[in-house]
Amino acid sequence: MKVSASILDCDFLRLAEELKAIEQAGVDCIHLDVMDGHFVPNLSFGTPIGRKLREATSLPLHSHLMVERPEEVIGMFLPFSDLVVFHIEAAEDPGTCIKDIHKAGKQAGMSLNPDTPAESLRPFLPGLQDVLVMTVFPGRGGQEFMSGSLERIRAIREMIAQTGSRTTVSVDGGVKPSNCRAIADAGADVAIAGSAIFRSKDYASVVRELRCSKP
Ligand code: DX5
Ligand code: ZN
Repeated sequence: MKVSASILDCDFLRLAEELKAIEQAGVDCIHLDVMDGHFVPNLSFGTPIGRKLREATSLPLHSHLMVERPEEVIGMFLPFSDLVVFHIEAAEDPGTCIKDIHKAGKQAGMSLNPDTPAESLRPFLPGLQDVLVMTVFPGRGGQEFMSGSLERIRAIREMIAQTGSRTTVSVDGGVKPSNCRAIADAGADVAIAGSAIFRSKDYASVVRELRCSKP
């Protein structure tokens, strides 16, 4: 699997060093957890951090917008994000969100909370480059991977296969070396990890384990 580092759990006092460390550890992209304190009970960071990261790295930046009314926010993240992911539960009109992201020449992703029926994704799959499967309830890092998530990943992978689209499946929340093999086998393409990486002593070895590259 590709590995995406969620910086929510990094040491923000040493952001430039942390960025260098995850680049050297071999992550494929950087995951920005944007929280508005309404859609999720937490407030994280916004465009100033995203713009600075854009200047400092050539790695793809993926903005995970855990915000109400994403239609009003997406435009702020498009200049520096390669992929913008919004929540189906928060969008008045998901189709417009996808169109706005594509108009800017960027990739569109949709995320769904653990209690949102996977079936709700189906009408949007043809326009999506990524589906971000939440395996915790969004709002914090360091939570446990929720049981039942593997079936959801399989079901979403199956739904994508039926539409024939090349949409990737990203998994976000409680992803660890101990569960990444099962996640990969369930059909995930991208492992998003925050605490597994930033709370470890050796980022590179955790990234290697999370890749779960087939023997
Ligand atoms: C949770 C975020 C996740 C989270 C991942 O709301 O969307 O990206 O930060 O952190 P870990 O890997 O620690 O669960
Ligand atoms: Zn996230």
